[in-house]
Amino acid sequence: VPHVGDLVSSHMHDLRIKEMVMFKVTRVETTPFEGQKPGTSGLRKKVKVFIQPHYLQNFVQATFNALGADRVKGATLVVSGDGRYYSKDAIQIITKMAAANGVKRVWIGQNGLLSTPAVSAVVRERVGADGSKATGAFILTASHNPGGPHEDFGIKYNMENGGPAPEGITNKIYENTTTIKEYMIAEGLPDVDISTTGVSSFDGPEGKFDVDVFDSTSDYLKLMKSINNLLQRHYSAVAELLSAVPFQFLIFIFTTFFILLFYLFDRSIFDFPSMQKVLSSPKFSFCYDALHGVAGVHAKRIFVEELGANESSLVNCVPKEDFGGGHPDPNLTYAKELVARMGLSKTHSEPNPPEFGAAADGDGDRNMVLGKRFFVTPSDSVAIIAANSVQAIPYFSGGLKGVARSMPTSAALDVVAKHLNLKFFEVPTGWKFFGNLMDAGMCSICGEESFGTGWLSGRSDHIREKDGIWAVLAWLSILAYKNKDNLGGGNLVTVEDIVRQHWATYGRHYYTRYDYENVDAGGAKELMAHLVKLQSSIDQVNKIIKGIRSDVSNVVHADEFEYKDPVDGSVSKHQGIRYLFEDGSRLVFRLSGTGSEGATIRLYIEQYEKDSSKIGRDSQEALAPLVEVALKLSKMQEYTGRSAPTVIT
Ligand code: G6P
Ligand code: ZN
Repeated sequence: VPHVGDLVSSHMHDLRIKEMVMFKVTRVETTPFEGQKPGTSGLRKKVKVFIQPHYLQNFVQATFNALGADRVKGATLVVSGDGRYYSKDAIQIITKMAAANGVKRVWIGQNGLLSTPAVSAVVRERVGADGSKATGAFILTASHNPGGPHEDFGIKYNMENGGPAPEGITNKIYENTTTIKEYMIAEGLPDVDISTTGVSSFDGPEGKFDVDVFDSTSDYLKLMKSINNLLQRHYSAVAELLSAVPFQFLIFIFTTFFILLFYLFDRSIFDFPSMQKVLSSPKFSFCYDALHGVAGVHAKRIFVEELGANESSLVNCVPKEDFGGGHPDPNLTYAKELVARMGLSKTHSEPNPPEFGAAADGDGDRNMVLGKRFFVTPSDSVAIIAANSVQAIPYFSGGLKGVARSMPTSAALDVVAKHLNLKFFEVPTGWKFFGNLMDAGMCSICGEESFGTGWLSGRSDHIREKDGIWAVLAWLSILAYKNKDNLGGGNLVTVEDIVRQHWATYGRHYYTRYDYENVDAGGAKELMAHLVKLQSSIDQVNKIIKGIRSDVSNVVHADEFEYKDPVDGSVSKHQGIRYLFEDGSRLVFRLSGTGSEGATIRLYIEQYEKDSSKIGRDSQEALAPLVEVALKLSKMQEYTGRSAPTVIT
């Protein structure tokens, strides 16, 4: 019999601590902090708020209490994040609180680093050496917000499906934070060394408690390469059976035979060899900027070690606690170095930019895609991935179940869905809304204007977060597919060619977003109230608009977006203010749900152009009339005191 354990799992570790350390449970008295309400994506505050005594502890205990003993006692919890300042301390605190609350195992990515999509993959896919599966995760990140002692920290909880906790749970967590009186923490449990992989075991009042520090990329990479992890799980169950009841050897052999059959028919998600070919072609060049976030760890392993990209393709790929002092948001304003390298900087001219460039945010779930001197809007990116996926990405060769976008994302995806006769969904901003659709097998690819793209499937074995590296692999696959015959001779089909061909087929959605960051919250609320009030008379709105620009079409409908989840019937109201125009143009106003200070107003502006002779204009120029209408109609300057946005994407 082969050494079954070796086949079953690559996570066998030596026990590092041979003598069991005993710990006790201490109850610490505390009082509530105001404002611990999780936003769009967890609780985000300045580090100075988080490091107040009991602040993090209150939130973590409130989460354990919201989950309830059933989900906490005996649980296996993943605790990791983007490595921002305070993460290392937070990991030790959460580990000790987990132990005290009866959690059985804590899994930590090496150095506490795991991208948000990698956490999701680990929750869904990883099998511990003892056959255990994770039941949830604390992700320590404030995503694309800056890090460092004077910047942001954040924490969010993901459930056993690998996706963010639903509102029912986050509301309960918040309620608990308002009444909390005590939290539990393990006394006598030493800090765990998270810099080297291995399992440490401790002894508590409820039995053994394990801390397993593991390789940050291997499970995620395995997922990208294949979908056979599900089978490994079965293997593990068989292995347990075998060791417990050796005489059932025959059953083992029988099951192994079927599993091997499954392996033979296993489908890759991506075609790694064809991506390798593109990356190693002398015609092709690549640049990846992780903005010093956690995606750098995965990028090195996947793009360089697996796919053979040159190490010099990687920029800012060493994670830093303060993201090198930058703003880890992959857009044209903050990804400065990539933007310059790709020949898109206004102040620096680059003689020979790479063919393909991409960036990620701090926790690796966002992506920006660039061609040589060319920006791909995230709304176009998801539409183009959807339009090419069946041919270019092996996992989708059987067809797509449906596609989805968030409301402010442009309608480029809608046109593809119509063309390909696919189910289509428009959900509110926030990745969690896609989760139900994918669990119900209604959607395969989804994306958002906020530089997020992801893939979902009705199968139960995939991640539940958007995924920056996935998006790059999807684009590499499309490039590989479009160039399968020209890497030897012929001209390379570039990123720009692919986008322009897409516009020629489906029409172009000119699109821009104006962000007014950290404005006075009162002023922002008043602006939104003013826009809602205007909606009561469309005639009046049209009169105002005609007074601003006569070349803009009429508003035909205006409302606040509301969503009824087709799976569970729940209704989400006040999800953004929309003005819809006769020619398909849209203006959308929203308050950001991810800021940590003041308010951020987002204004989304979109115009559809079907006429192929008009699809090549500069986007800011094409949108200028609508921008003027939006700013004047909303009285932006009056309410915010700002004459220009902080960021334009
Ligand atoms: C996070 C979520 C996204 C969402 C974005 C919106 O990144 O994961 O699903 O689109 O926040 O942020 P905002 O600041 O516009 O609320
Ligand atoms: Zn993020």
